[in-house]
Amino acid sequence: MTDFFQNSGLAVKLGGIILKNPVIACSGTFASGLEYNEFYNISILGAVTTKSMSLAPMQGNPPPRICETASGMLNSIGLQNEGIDYFLENELPRMVEAGAAIIVSIFGKDADEFTKIASKIKTYEKEILAVELNLSCPNVEKGGMAFCALPDEINRIVSLTRNILKTGIIAKLSSNFNNIPEAASKAAKGGADAVSIINTIAATAFDINTFKPRLGNITGGLSGPAIKPIALLKVYELAKENIIPVIGMGGIMNWEDAIEFIIAGACAIGIGTANFINPDCGRKIIDGINDYMRRRNINDINILRGIVFKNSGAII
Ligand SMILES: Cc1cc2nc3c(=O)[nH]c(=O)nc-3n(C[C@H](O)[C@H](O)[C@H](O)COP(=O)(O)O)c2cc1C
Repeated sequence: MTDFFQNSGLAVKLGGIILKNPVIACSGTFASGLEYNEFYNISILGAVTTKSMSLAPMQGNPPPRICETASGMLNSIGLQNEGIDYFLENELPRMVEAGAAIIVSIFGKDADEFTKIASKIKTYEKEILAVELNLSCPNVEKGGMAFCALPDEINRIVSLTRNILKTGIIAKLSSNFNNIPEAASKAAKGGADAVSIINTIAATAFDINTFKPRLGNITGGLSGPAIKPIALLKVYELAKENIIPVIGMGGIMNWEDAIEFIIAGACAIGIGTANFINPDCGRKIIDGINDYMRRRNINDINILRGIVFKNSGAII
């Protein structure tokens, strides 16, 4: 780490990935970040993750695609995106210009697509910090089962990407399959620098007046405060195993939530649904973490990571 980063007290290291602070905008909730640049300078974030991009453009699911639930939100966007070429040619240069530390999220329907996307990114790899592999998408080679349900597939996709790219590699896992520690080990063996947990949780909602599903796709993903305790447990359980650095996400709405994930073992944290409610929450969370550390005389955020494991009763 450079002296500058060390001196800020907020810098974190995830394998080979260094962030100036642990606050990351989650995939699919921050567009390419440029819209949020109107609320605050997105270059202050530890990193901005793009929405997940495929080889060819995708139209996504039928509407409605979003609905509110108690303490959370359901979405079934269906990974709508313009395709990796459009992103690399049109959005990436503007993100670079905005000074963002960029994590490019990608997904494919099979190993070949992941490989092709990674090869396209290679030309631009100096401009990006990391690639996040969204492994919640269906694997057509395995009958449509999600990649992250199949630990050997995780290993395969991470290794293939690692062989192509020198950037950081993050495997994004889902809590819909009860295998996070095994999945994370396979990602680590394949050469991932970190894992992101958790993606949205499979869920649905129905309208009692029309008798129709509230999402065009019937099934969607639940996010927001409703999933925070689940995400926190997954982070705690995985971080305790000390397999690979963990980026914790799921229901983080403010700096207090962010600190809670860090003391539970997260190296960095992701903010997703909160961006829809408070577009400037990224800035507020960084400020809140800074103030908390100053009040408690903590000069390095890494001291806080996993402090709940120590369970020594020490008060800092
Ligand atoms: C509208 C919406 C779109 C999302 N799109 C993606 C996506 O394209 N790729 C991905 O890996 N995760 C996607 N996610 C999941 C988030 O990145 C995050 O993992 C999840 O929402 C949990 O965090 P949160 O509760 O803070 O939102 C999406 C979430 C929402 C709410």
